[in-house]
Amino acid sequence: MTSQHSDASFSREAAFDLLRGVSAFTHSPLIKGLAEVVARHPDAEIGVAFNHKQIACKMWARDAVYETIGGEIGTILVLGGWYGVLAGILFDDARFTIGKIVSVDIDETVASVARTLNGAWIDRFNALSEDMYALPYQDHKADLVVNTSCEHIADLRGWLDLLPKGTRVVLQSNDYFSEPTHINCVASLDAFKEQAKLSRLLYGGSLPQKKYTRFMLIGEV
Ligand SMILES: C[S@@+](CC[C@H](N)C(=O)[O-])C[C@H]1O[C@@H](n2cnc3c(N)ncnc32)[C@H](O)[C@@H]1O
Repeated sequence: MTSQHSDASFSREAAFDLLRGVSAFTHSPLIKGLAEVVARHPDAEIGVAFNHKQIACKMWARDAVYETIGGEIGTILVLGGWYGVLAGILFDDARFTIGKIVSVDIDETVASVARTLNGAWIDRFNALSEDMYALPYQDHKADLVVNTSCEHIADLRGWLDLLPKGTRVVLQSNDYFSEPTHINCVASLDAFKEQAKLSRLLYGGSLPQKKYTRFMLIGEV
């Protein structure tokens, strides 16, 4: 018997239909945004940013933030925010009451995708195409600064020194040294603590994945 489906690839239209159905079933504004991204941004590598490992790391951050500092947060700055997945995960969680999230990334191609993904909260969400080393942090008056891309930036402590003293931060890095875009991995949680040198540590943990371990710190600079 021959298959009706000669093309083994899953079409964009089929992915959009499926996600629209999942969004109707789950009532999740984030999944609705994901369907819109699939339809409107054919070049975005949203499947990488939304794969189960990336999602596990973002849910880990979300739950640790909730348990460590609670769900009422004014302004959140997400650096290296990519397609805005973490912002969407935080907005989509009813435990949180968030004033505003600003997602910042040096890659100019990602901001429009992040805005589409977070379309349900666009009055409280913005995506900026900026270098995190050149941001006017005093002006942003962030209640929480998140950087889950620490393995991607050359001088972590140099960047932390740009934040106002006492700023609350959530940091993630990993020991995935073999990935070429990871220019600043750490070998262990202790090495990450040593690299960040936070003035106050509220949480430190490790999340083993199949190929690498992700590390997270929550504290104050
Ligand atoms: C691959 S992504 C995110 C990986 C990480 N696991 C995550 O999901 O949080 C890393 C992002 O950091 C951004 N990035 C790297 N250097 C940056 C800088 N100096 N300022 C702002 N964004 C930067 C890149 O453009 C990229 O979108």
